[in-house]
Amino acid sequence: MHPVEIADGIHWVGVLDPQLRIFDVIMRAEQGTTYNAYLVQGRDKTALIDTSKGRFTDTFLETLGRVVDPARIDYVVLNHLEPDHSGALGALLEAAPRVRVVVTKPGSVFLRQILNRDVDPMVVTDGQEIDLGGKTLRFLVAPFLHWPDTMFTYAVEDQVLFPCDFLGAHYCDDRLFNDLVDNYEYAFRYYFHVIMRPFKEHVRKGLEKIQDLPLRAVCPSHGPILRTRIGEYLEKYRRWAAEPDKGPAKRLLVFYASSYGNTEKMARAIAAGARQAGADVALFDLVGVDFEAVLDDLEAADGVAVGSCTINGDALEHAWLLLASMATVRVKGKLGAAFGSYGWSGEGPKMLAERMRGLRFRVPEDPLRVQLVPSDEDLAACEDYGRRLAEAL
Ligand code: FEO
Repeated sequence: MHPVEIADGIHWVGVLDPQLRIFDVIMRAEQGTTYNAYLVQGRDKTALIDTSKGRFTDTFLETLGRVVDPARIDYVVLNHLEPDHSGALGALLEAAPRVRVVVTKPGSVFLRQILNRDVDPMVVTDGQEIDLGGKTLRFLVAPFLHWPDTMFTYAVEDQVLFPCDFLGAHYCDDRLFNDLVDNYEYAFRYYFHVIMRPFKEHVRKGLEKIQDLPLRAVCPSHGPILRTRIGEYLEKYRRWAAEPDKGPAKRLLVFYASSYGNTEKMARAIAAGARQAGADVALFDLVGVDFEAVLDDLEAADGVAVGSCTINGDALEHAWLLLASMATVRVKGKLGAAFGSYGWSGEGPKMLAERMRGLRFRVPEDPLRVQLVPSDEDLAACEDYGRRLAEAL
């Protein structure tokens, strides 16, 4: 595609990838995506912000070459080093021998690991600026949005923000601007929930960092460029990144997968015990759970207990899917527990507890297991277990 002018001396020089359907192995991209790169030309110097995914290197260099001879580029700013934006860097450095790579300190480590050679980057700190001659680029470090090395770049005089993946979307439309493309709200929301959700605290800090900046345009690294209603997009992020709405009671979610009803009996007794101890309890049969729909509940919970019977030496798939669905939720430090009825070996709950530790749950109790049908004594032990969990929340 041809370069597109965003402001005087600022061009989009990215790549369209309309055929993409799965990004990064895990994300749906029904409308493809774009790898946005931007060229900022000052009176004296020229900076490129980001490159493209490696397989699009030729297309990227061709588009870039329509605005500038790469040999005349002075800086390439990498807002973060993820390969979908740094993949064409090696080829760019060959075409632009005088270019200086601009990264944050953590970015300098990734840079070496990506290129497997030293390039002596310019390592910038929060608030540092580069003067291009009539155009100033200011760097605002924004760690974990969504990589440790992430920064935003702000073109001061033009009031244009390049916030890396922040405020982006996997959505491909060659009309490029938010006021020209169709409604892509679902892609914007999905992108937040998959990419930014685990870093809500950092999202809030990122929003704070830019709240006083005048913004004429926001140019993320994927999807449409925002040039109208920018406040509304920021407000969505503010809402989605807000602390979960919680009452005063500690909240425990109890999930179970039960083939003959025995693990379910345990789950109900654990829930009853936790309730008696004052916890706000929610009980879920994993067979009916929509894993995306419970993400907010998981995030708001203080503790999660997962129960599964054991079949063929393993916990049931439903329990594993629940734990896998937590990849985008910050569970570090929440209380975790596992339980289940079993026939003869009973590995399931132990494996679940181990996995929960791996996810950085705090798992203070050994898994609670009952062989076959829980007796009255077993159920009383389950209630005790629930009480102890509630006290440990
Ligand atoms: Fe689009 Fe985090 O790279």
